[in-house]
Amino acid sequence: MWHVLLGGSLLFPGLYLLCSRCARWALPAWSEADCSLIGARIVSSIQAILAAVSGILIITSCKDVKFDRHWLATSYIWLIIPYMVYDTYAMYLRHWYRCQNKQTLAGKDHFATAMDSFLRKDFLMLVHHTAILTILVPIALFFRRDIGDFFVGCLYVAEMSTPFVSLGKVLIQLKLQNSLLYKVNGALVLITFFLCRILLFPFMYNAYGQQYGIPFYKVPFYIPLQCNVINASMMAPQIYWFWLICKKALRLYTSSLSSKDR
Ligand SMILES: *[C@@H]1O[C@H](CO)[C@@H](O)[C@H](O)[C@H]1NC(C)=O
Repeated sequence: MWHVLLGGSLLFPGLYLLCSRCARWALPAWSEADCSLIGARIVSSIQAILAAVSGILIITSCKDVKFDRHWLATSYIWLIIPYMVYDTYAMYLRHWYRCQNKQTLAGKDHFATAMDSFLRKDFLMLVHHTAILTILVPIALFFRRDIGDFFVGCLYVAEMSTPFVSLGKVLIQLKLQNSLLYKVNGALVLITFFLCRILLFPFMYNAYGQQYGIPFYKVPFYIPLQCNVINASMMAPQIYWFWLICKKALRLYTSSLSSKDR
């Protein structure tokens, strides 16, 4: 497993450097901050596609949701570790670039200003990444006693919405917010997010219920309490993010309606 860990540690930062350099070369008029942002979006999309494909392979091959095994379920976790570390750094870097143009606050150096902006604006993301690294990864690697590869696969499929979220952000960077592509992509974000990050949880409970002949709504009482707690704490931020996305979509829709009236 160390080779996956090492591979990931080279792969993600390497891809990031490659993509941001290419963006710099292809878009010479763009600032370094914008090019680095594009690089980071491409890397997160690639990771998301790898995760979602692994998830689908795992789900389709595990017929017994509790005991069937698939090698990808554990192997991929070793790739998530370097990715989360890299992505946290990439997030910090984004704030570092953002603060470069602004006046640094009185008495604060560049690092402190960037850190301050990072902690204020990406706090939930930071908690998310930290929780994955310190809680979910140890559970998935050591504490689940090799049970439930199927459910690990389900969680990988949750990444399906990320490429669309990233594409949306790149389109904003390209000032294409009013294009049809942006709207179609926005709809795909809503759909994939709802299916793969919200409906995913009832789907998992249903899969468990089907295997053991328990009605769906009774499953929470048949599985250990900590499983319900973990599922609930994974679902809570997804609902919050979905709510934010819905609000944004509503604004986009109403503003395009009112601009048509004018
Ligand atoms: C989430 O719920 C499913 C469905 O019953 C359960 O089997 C699984 O173990 C739970 N996940 C975690 C991480 O506890």
